[in-house]
Amino acid sequence: MRVLNIGSLNIDYVYRVDHFVRPGETLHAGSLRAGCGGKGLNQSAALARAGVETWHAGLTGPEGGFLREKLASFGVRTELVREVGETTGHAIIQVDGAGQNSILLYGGANRCMTEAFVDEALAGFGPGDWLLAQNETVCVGHAVARAKERGLRTALNAAPADGALREMPLELLDLLFVNEVEGAFLAGTEEPEEIAAVLTERYPETTLVLTLGEDGALAARHGRETVRTAAFRVPTVDTTAAGDTFTGFFLRGVLDGRPPEDCLRLAAAAGAVAVTRRGAADSVPSYEEAAAFLAERGR
Ligand code: RIB
Repeated sequence: MRVLNIGSLNIDYVYRVDHFVRPGETLHAGSLRAGCGGKGLNQSAALARAGVETWHAGLTGPEGGFLREKLASFGVRTELVREVGETTGHAIIQVDGAGQNSILLYGGANRCMTEAFVDEALAGFGPGDWLLAQNETVCVGHAVARAKERGLRTALNAAPADGALREMPLELLDLLFVNEVEGAFLAGTEEPEEIAAVLTERYPETTLVLTLGEDGALAARHGRETVRTAAFRVPTVDTTAAGDTFTGFFLRGVLDGRPPEDCLRLAAAAGAVAVTRRGAADSVPSYEEAAAFLAERGR
């Protein structure tokens, strides 16, 4: 079983700050580190580190070739990563003393994706395979619709939330990942149980996975029991890519045919390990590390 991730590739510039810059303020950063990121790249890294055969389709600019090499170093297939004439996507990430982040994105090459590119990427995939996407590229709705036509199962991480999400055929998804912000944006309510009720009623064929930060996560499906997992308490160094790690490991559990509560626990464990480490893709644990963490915590 393979996963085709049609997703973003970013250069992350990570600034350690005492607090996030306020309007009108000029602030010295304590340090700067450049690294590999993008929700797409991070989720491909997580899938591959979780042991899933992962193909990444995406675009970089001429200076972004090292992102492709990074993916390959995780074992991701990169034949569908192409170079275009636009600047590579990048993110300016502030990380505060509590490890929380604030992200400014420039889409760059990620926004040059075309329907023709998506169709070409999907051409080698069919029944038994999965499509994974996020909302940092364009043509996401087209990718979901075409993938479904070709018999793939489909998963979307709805981050970041913006108007494009409302135009997508979300009813075609097998799996929809949202955090509280994206869930509230789509459902029009902030209470987690209500978000789950609204979205599972609206998308009855879709399993909804709602991540709730320190309150853990839940998985819900229309007409079925909602299952929850608590968050693991760990020393937080940097939360960047914790959600991406969660997505990749949850999908690994689904590919194994595990019940949703097991998928949630595995994903929560992997995400917890990621927040104890600096960086985005570099913070993703291996399957063995996540499994050892779970065993140690007795869950
Ligand atoms: O989810 C974390 C990612 O969001 C970062 O790597 C950054 O590139 C932004 O896309």
